Amino acid sequence: VVSGVQLTLATPYPIFCSPGALDLVGTVALEHAPAHRYAIIVDDMVAGYYLDRVCDSLQQFVPRARCVVASVPSGEMHKTREQWARLTDILLAAGCGRDTAIIALGGGVVGDLAGFVAATFMRGIQIVQIPTTLLAMVDASVGGKTGVDIPAGKNLVGAFHPPAAVIVDPTTLRTLPERHLRGGLAEALKHGVVADAAYFGRVRDALPSIGADAETIPDLLLPIIADSIAIKSEIVARDPRETGLRKVLNFGHTVGHAVEAVSGYELLHGEAIAIGMVVESGIATALGVTDGSLWAPLRDALAAAGLPTALDSALSRDDIISLMYHDKKTRRGNLELSLPTRIGAMAGAENGWSVPVGEAVVRSALGG
Ligand SMILES: NC(=O)c1ccc[n+]([C@@H]2O[C@H](COP(=O)([O-])OP(=O)(O)OC[C@H]3O[C@@H](n4cnc5c(N)ncnc54)[C@H](O)[C@@H]3O)[C@@H](O)[C@H]2O)c1
Ligand SMILES: [Zn+2]
Repeated sequence: VVSGVQLTLATPYPIFCSPGALDLVGTVALEHAPAHRYAIIVDDMVAGYYLDRVCDSLQQFVPRARCVVASVPSGEMHKTREQWARLTDILLAAGCGRDTAIIALGGGVVGDLAGFVAATFMRGIQIVQIPTTLLAMVDASVGGKTGVDIPAGKNLVGAFHPPAAVIVDPTTLRTLPERHLRGGLAEALKHGVVADAAYFGRVRDALPSIGADAETIPDLLLPIIADSIAIKSEIVARDPRETGLRKVLNFGHTVGHAVEAVSGYELLHGEAIAIGMVVESGIATALGVTDGSLWAPLRDALAAAGLPTALDSALSRDDIISLMYHDKKTRRGNLELSLPTRIGAMAGAENGWSVPVGEAVVRSALGG
């Protein structure tokens, strides 16, 4: 059943991607994450749409009594240590042990949170990721980064814990609110900028058709999702722990994460990253790292995706800059960014794929 929908990739774990792949959960779990019990950790919004199908598929092979369901309230504000503690308690109370595997069903929030539960519960158990947002399909579910947000910042407590398998069913995108769909396009365009100009062009060409009719979304986005996964998994395979090359995936994120936080999370991750990519392209232009071919085409593509490309004048530039200094990627208190030389190529190979940037250049690119 499963052959034919498995992508050919550099990842050590299989990624299945096809319309209807949700119904493969049972087969995939049995083969790639065999366990006595399964704990489905699900976003409570997503549960209403897709939990029954996942349970039905699993219960073809696993008795109902050995399937535990724990739901998490929808939203970034629940990607917390408190939810991590609640979930691990639920697993313990349900009799889960080392012979349990987790199935994460939802967007990046549930994927990161359930991933961190899997990384830590009984010192680490297997997880199958079933991403249901475009952002989680093209980005968050691949690469093994898991974690929670803490008051000091996003993703500051976490672990690398690669999944046992990933199941991507693009038909689930039919119910995803359009604003979230557009947020995911920011990460797809980012993959084009950091690694593949032709892919960037294919995503850009698909943009005018997005939003017209939800029914057409799965067919339209299937090749875009598959290519994005291939780009990300190739980079991650070469540098799983982000000691060098993987940093290119942070393009737009040093500024973007700061903007996201300063907006009080009013901006979605993808929206903040869109603004971050425009600002960081401005920085790359000011530094002469890139020529004139980057900034305007990227801004135009992001705008065509329906994403914001300019920073709200009400957001404090001082707060954004001070948060940028707290970024995990900052080295020795200096600002370092992953910057493109053009669409499809990144700078800084000789310096661990990051470029030192003076605060004055950042301040000027942020405008005000
Ligand atoms: N681990 C990584 O490598 C990585 C990479 C990128 C982003 N992330 C993380 O991902 C998170 C953002 O993920 P996200 O954008 O998927 O947000 P999300 O998980 O909050 O999902 C967005 C919203 O869509 C709803 N939803 C999800 N799937 C749906 C569907 N199919 N139909 C209807 N509604 C649906 C959710 O309930 C939620 O309200 C952030 O916390 C970010 O840090 C992690
Ligand atoms: Zn991101």
